[in-house]
Amino acid sequence: MEIPFLDLKRAYARYGEEIEKAVIKVLRKGVYLNGEETKALERELASYLGRRYAIGVSSGTEALYLILKALSLPKGSAILLPSFTFVATAEVVVRAGLRPIFVDVERESGNMSLPYLEKAYDEAKKKGYKVSGVIVVSIFGIPARLDEISEFCKNKGLYLIEDICQAFGSELSGRKVGTFGVASATSFYPTKNLSACGDAGMVFTDDEKLAKKIEAMKEHGQTKPYYYEYHGVNGRIDEIQCAILRTKFKYFEEEGKLRENIAKLYSENLKDLFPIVKLLHSPPNSRPLFSLFSIRVKKRDELMDFLKKSGIQTRVYYPQPLHLQPIYKRFGYKRGALPETEALCEEILSLPFYPYLREEEVWAVIEKIREFYKI
Ligand SMILES: Cc1ncc(COP(=O)(O)O)c(C=O)c1O
Repeated sequence: MEIPFLDLKRAYARYGEEIEKAVIKVLRKGVYLNGEETKALERELASYLGRRYAIGVSSGTEALYLILKALSLPKGSAILLPSFTFVATAEVVVRAGLRPIFVDVERESGNMSLPYLEKAYDEAKKKGYKVSGVIVVSIFGIPARLDEISEFCKNKGLYLIEDICQAFGSELSGRKVGTFGVASATSFYPTKNLSACGDAGMVFTDDEKLAKKIEAMKEHGQTKPYYYEYHGVNGRIDEIQCAILRTKFKYFEEEGKLRENIAKLYSENLKDLFPIVKLLHSPPNSRPLFSLFSIRVKKRDELMDFLKKSGIQTRVYYPQPLHLQPIYKRFGYKRGALPETEALCEEILSLPFYPYLREEEVWAVIEKIREFYKI
């Protein structure tokens, strides 16, 4: 049996016709940007998340960048962020003229936690850096300890920005991830929980001034026709993508349940392999909506190879932490600087996971893992 890591065609087979109709409607209408579909999607998703404003943008990366720029943080000031994340989280910090300071993560969840955040903050202050904000990532859909982290940020006078690109729909303490910071950024990249057929993203905030500024900045900083108040970007979302996203959003709750069922099936049938196979932990009082289902394993590369030979595709998110990447070398990090993150990169493995993965395929993955470890 061939089991792909992700097969987007299965979702398309489910509601592709509806998507095609929605796209044709936009094509025939002839409004391709800043139209009704964008407005409606923004309204629907702001209401779903529980934030006053939603601004559709061209990607999750652009959403993060626009938040950082719109906050007018002091030039060269430091932003604390995890090293165990997709490169975009750090890339935007440098692009916004700020200094990234990488924070270690708990190996058990893959997320930044308060003790590591405090440590990184104290070290940054000792070095004389002005720290202006924190970007917290809820990796794989697992909510970070956002309540503790937002309390810390309040006490220190730091902006908290949430990167929810992998966690749209996850919850902590009865609140949606993405409602704990001053603003949050999500991605609708095709592999995400709510995904477009191309690139798209969104900013969420309750702050009216910030929302208005980002709204202008994503349109070259224009506040009225051909009048530019801010340095902006071309960061609009397309009407076609919005129409697709609105169609898919109708299935979002249902797909969330499918994700939950698959995660449960994996978890319940892998948990007895502890300590050879470890499941990632979510905080108490949380409801993760997994975008990726990852485990921590011994002999990871050998297991991957074995699964590949059995027709099962797996992936490593992430094989190399950001603080050790060539582009961030100049910030002076050496191997050993963030030991939990570095160890996690050696043992993490993402299994096939998406709403339309079939139960028998999940069982086949579980059985092959057990076979490899001879348990
Ligand atoms: C954690 C994280 N941050 C940022 C991004 C960037 O989003 P995009 O690919 O839409 O630019 C992604 C996803 O790709 C991500 O996983």
